[in-house]
Amino acid sequence: MSTTFSSQPLRLGVAGLGTVGAGLLHLLEVNGARMGASLGRQLRVTAVSARTKSRDRGVSLQGVRWVADATKLAVDPEIDVFVELIGGADGIAKAAVEAALNAGKHVITANKAMLAMHGTELARLAEKKGVALNFEAAVAGGIPVIKTMREALAGNRVSRVYGILNGTCNYILTRMQEEHLAFDVVLKEAQARGYAESDPTFDIGGFDTAHKLALLTALAFGTKVAFDSVHIEGIQSITQADIEAADDLGYRIKLLGVALQTESGIEQRVNPTLLPKDTAIAEVAGVTNAVAIDSDFAGNLLLVGPGAGAKATASAIASDIADIAGGFILPPFGVPSSKLATPKRAPLGRHLGAFYVRLDAHDRPGVMAAITKRMAEQEVSLESIVQRRPRKALPGIGARPTPGAQMPVILITHETTEAAIRKALDGIEKDGKVAGKPQTIRIERL
Ligand SMILES: NC(=O)c1ccc[n+]([C@@H]2O[C@H](COP(=O)([O-])OP(=O)(O)OC[C@H]3O[C@@H](n4cnc5c(N)ncnc54)[C@H](OP(=O)(O)O)[C@@H]3O)[C@@H](O)[C@H]2O)c1
Repeated sequence: MSTTFSSQPLRLGVAGLGTVGAGLLHLLEVNGARMGASLGRQLRVTAVSARTKSRDRGVSLQGVRWVADATKLAVDPEIDVFVELIGGADGIAKAAVEAALNAGKHVITANKAMLAMHGTELARLAEKKGVALNFEAAVAGGIPVIKTMREALAGNRVSRVYGILNGTCNYILTRMQEEHLAFDVVLKEAQARGYAESDPTFDIGGFDTAHKLALLTALAFGTKVAFDSVHIEGIQSITQADIEAADDLGYRIKLLGVALQTESGIEQRVNPTLLPKDTAIAEVAGVTNAVAIDSDFAGNLLLVGPGAGAKATASAIASDIADIAGGFILPPFGVPSSKLATPKRAPLGRHLGAFYVRLDAHDRPGVMAAITKRMAEQEVSLESIVQRRPRKALPGIGARPTPGAQMPVILITHETTEAAIRKALDGIEKDGKVAGKPQTIRIERL
């Protein structure tokens, strides 16, 4: 950590003037002078870079130098801080960030993809050069979770961090819940409203959540960033039948990123999860994000707020700027990168928890007995088992089953291991009593 005070203007070079970059310039237009006054140091955008110079960004670029090549901007002698808002794990963003750090410039980035892949090595480089690598906007947008974990919880041992980290997924699941619509219908609507990309795989497949989770894990447990150790499941397989059954049983379905310390190592997973309806995190709706942190002295914290968008991300970047302006520089992941441990990956088979299972059982005598027998063989005890017809046939969900056809059976297990439930379900499939693959959703213990 270092603190050095200066009253010289802090000169910013901003690369990327899209949603986040233009949002930052807007914030500085509105609040920059006030920030500078309270910091005792003016904030000045000296130069910018983007792809298309002629594009109207809705903000004034008067008096701001245009540098076509972001890697040149990164080493420009007239900037103190390089703000990378281009995106992408590699390519120009990474090249420019490395160039800036090597040139001894502070770096601010919102680029979770790059940090998830190269965070540890970039942190090492920043520390070697004695500069900041700040990334408050990279996780959960406007929620100040990086500072909370890096600074406010410094005196705690964190046991688990989890959250709703992708607004697109939360919007889709919320609309499915509230409007009784099928996944595909809601996805199209989200795309039309600009909440989902035309290629939504990155969001709905859980990868964006996984990038953010990998960063939270490093901060929580003082480990190197280990994106490859994240088990990733998206929300594509969630049906209206699951949403309804969960609702009847007292749960909401949310896509969570979860990292926890277990006896067999650190478990990192992104998965749809059943959460009791009456918990605060289950009530987080629409594009809103939430991050929960369990720790030994501060207890259980829940931070809720806007996870994306121009204003929320600009707010997060402004806090990174304020730290640098005030000379407050910490190692990017809270502890020096040489002290970051190599995380031991907990095998998913050892995951302990309760499960929701939906089976499309053949509606014939003896089916329920066969299912419970297979569960008992693996010592999986059941909290409930019900045959459940969908409330109504919905577009895209399929028609109501006819007698003799398939009937959804919903199981809720008591706590068991992942390996046991998988073996039990393999047995049930082999018995030929169910059609298709069982739907399995973890129930998060809160
Ligand atoms: N959007 C959010 O709410 C949000 C939230 C948190 C984090 N982030 C992260 O913030 C970063 C930026 O996201 P965004 O949503 O602002 O993206 P965006 O709207 O697509 O903007 C990207 C910007 O990068 C510029 N650019 C592309 N290639 C370039 C190059 N070779 N050299 C210089 N500039 C280049 C583009 O220039 P042109 O405008 O000229 O095409 C554009 O201004 C990403 O890492 C993203 O993951 C975004």
